[in-house]
Amino acid sequence: MGSQRLDKIIASTGKWSRREARELARRGLVTVDGASVRSAEEKFDPEAAEILVDGEALRYRRYTWVMLNKPAGYLSATEDGRGETVLDLLPRELQRQGLFPVGRLDKDTEGLLLLTNEGVLAHALLSPKRHVDKVYYARTAGRLTEEDCRAFAAGISLGDGLQCLPARLEILSAGEESEARVTLREGKFHQVKRMLAARGKPVTYLERVRMGGLSLDQGLPRGAFRFLTEEEVGELRALV
Ligand code: URA
Repeated sequence: MGSQRLDKIIASTGKWSRREARELARRGLVTVDGASVRSAEEKFDPEAAEILVDGEALRYRRYTWVMLNKPAGYLSATEDGRGETVLDLLPRELQRQGLFPVGRLDKDTEGLLLLTNEGVLAHALLSPKRHVDKVYYARTAGRLTEEDCRAFAAGISLGDGLQCLPARLEILSAGEESEARVTLREGKFHQVKRMLAARGKPVTYLERVRMGGLSLDQGLPRGAFRFLTEEEVGELRALV
């Protein structure tokens, strides 16, 4: 890995902006390999240098992975003239790192959305060949039945002739409005909504709660993000 400006390295953690990084250095709060560095314009190899910010070791990562608890109203895109995108929910320093959403959630779907700038792993996770489980909590208009569960298990045929892989529908409550957990191994456009609509039970609310082994962090408020831990990224790597 080549050398990079110190303010850029510090800002890549998403914790401080580049301006804040320069200020921290100016105040003597940044050391590199044991020596105070007051000019954040100096360049270092972030993978080789030991950088401390206010006494705390900076953990540089070549790629960034974040888990976002997506609220309704945001598009899963990097830019879109028509509305706000999930990137608008991240701090500017992270927006500059070329993050993109790993797959898409509809504008009105909430919950777990990963964003990264590690293209190879992201695309591998999305590959239809990998069959990474995606789990959704859904509310539907209409009473879900065991027959719906059997139809999901057999593989739903959508109106346009598209055949879905077998999927799991677990009924959490059944009534005029029902609740269910849906587990898919693929990710076609509007898939959960289309599968339930094909059963005559249109979705009224949808939230993704899990992707592979990664569950939506219950402590993460709607609209907030956190970095994935190294173990979590390792688990994603193990899936592909
Ligand atoms: N299925 C849908 O219908 N919408 C989503 O956002 C995700 C899965």
